Amino acid sequence: MPPSTALLRPCAAAAQPRRRSAQRALYHTLHGAPPDADTRTRAAHFLRRKLLETAGQANDLPASPQELHAWRDASAARVAERYAAYLAERQAGGARQYFTNRAHALHFLHAVAPTKLVDGSWLYGLAEHAANVRLAPLVHTYLEELGDGAADKNHVLLYRRLLAAHGISAEDDGSLPDALYEQGLIQLCLAWNAQDFLPEVIGFNLAYEQLPLHLLITSYELNELGIDPYYFTLHVTVDNGHSGHARQACDAVLALLPRHGDPDVFWQRVRAGARLADAGVGTMQVIQGFDIGAEVLRIFQAKAPAGHGAHSNYCRVAGKSINDWLATPEQMPAFLQALIDTKWVVPDAPAHQSRFWRLLQGERAEMFGVFSPYELQVIHDWLRGEDASDGQAWDERGAANQSRRRPSFRALARAGKAGPGAASAAEALPVDPDVPAFEERLRQLAGSERRAALVAAMAPGEHWTPVGLRATQLFRRECFA
Ligand SMILES: [Fe+2]
Repeated sequence: MPPSTALLRPCAAAAQPRRRSAQRALYHTLHGAPPDADTRTRAAHFLRRKLLETAGQANDLPASPQELHAWRDASAARVAERYAAYLAERQAGGARQYFTNRAHALHFLHAVAPTKLVDGSWLYGLAEHAANVRLAPLVHTYLEELGDGAADKNHVLLYRRLLAAHGISAEDDGSLPDALYEQGLIQLCLAWNAQDFLPEVIGFNLAYEQLPLHLLITSYELNELGIDPYYFTLHVTVDNGHSGHARQACDAVLALLPRHGDPDVFWQRVRAGARLADAGVGTMQVIQGFDIGAEVLRIFQAKAPAGHGAHSNYCRVAGKSINDWLATPEQMPAFLQALIDTKWVVPDAPAHQSRFWRLLQGERAEMFGVFSPYELQVIHDWLRGEDASDGQAWDERGAANQSRRRPSFRALARAGKAGPGAASAAEALPVDPDVPAFEERLRQLAGSERRAALVAAMAPGEHWTPVGLRATQLFRRECFA
């Protein structure tokens, strides 16, 4: 979309500084240190509310658990068929269906981060019950989410590295709406309340571990745009329906069907838990909700307070000093329009044709370092308009050659040019001040106390750290040797 028209659209939401909702605060509390009893109770209340809200929603699970394997096979066949149709369309010259440009793809990575950064957490509460052989397969699934303690296989760590490779913060900088924290919050609530919500945990796992079409297409298009798809392709392989998490999830339901009590009540609770996997903002909503003009505006509004007062008074646009323009974020739509009107920004042209871009990039650029790599990509693609569909990275030298297909991430990786974000080989545990202290503490513990210390370090907020990885390795060895 040309910048000139995108900017004229009102964007009131971006103009308001976002206040964190109570739900978002609960997400962060559950993702931090082990929560106290009161916080766990609040998490349980939230789950009950969500279960009520989703109770009437459609669910494609079969009527009986005995049909689960047939259901899984049919779902997998449907996904395979639709993916084959997607590939045929692309091979016939069709455009990407998800990501219009590189900024769009990076925005997606950022927007789904609150969910991806707690990946696997819904199963955490089962780790302390690993001795129950009926639950052990689900504990295995949790350990696989944690990469069995290998840094290059831990899903959350992989995602954190993917974000870092593109200058996207894994911390909550307030730029994402509260709604994007809802799915991750559900997962964290299950993590800390497994005892009371065991059927729902099993049902959530069943629904969440099935391979969705969007995972395949996302992987394909990220790779095409030169962005490491490993986090996503890893899920295509580990969730496979033949022997992976998708099958294990079905097996777990059948293995855990009650022999005492009412299996139907259990099954209905499994179905209710499965519905929670669809709660919150879905992948397609995130992708379809991207508006590059609104994102540029949000970035400028976020920068305005820091930029106000940082410019000389002779820096002027449309007769007004930059300091005055940046005095309030509300002026940003008019400021961006003024940049276009005064030709500081040239819409629908190579970025270097805009004087504004040359302030950000190049030899002795006066504003070098003001914008993060992600923000530069958004501005870059916004300036280039439709041409940005070629996927050119903001720091690529020269104009992209339109006549040649750009190399995919995998092609770059094969040529050793993939840069940060490339999946690395197995790594040794890094030096970290917490690891010796943790190991010293473990030496003083035995039996159930030692097991509890390991499980505590495998919590969603810690398992991806060096201590968490070490704890996962030890837990694996000691519980499943
Ligand atoms: Fe995962």
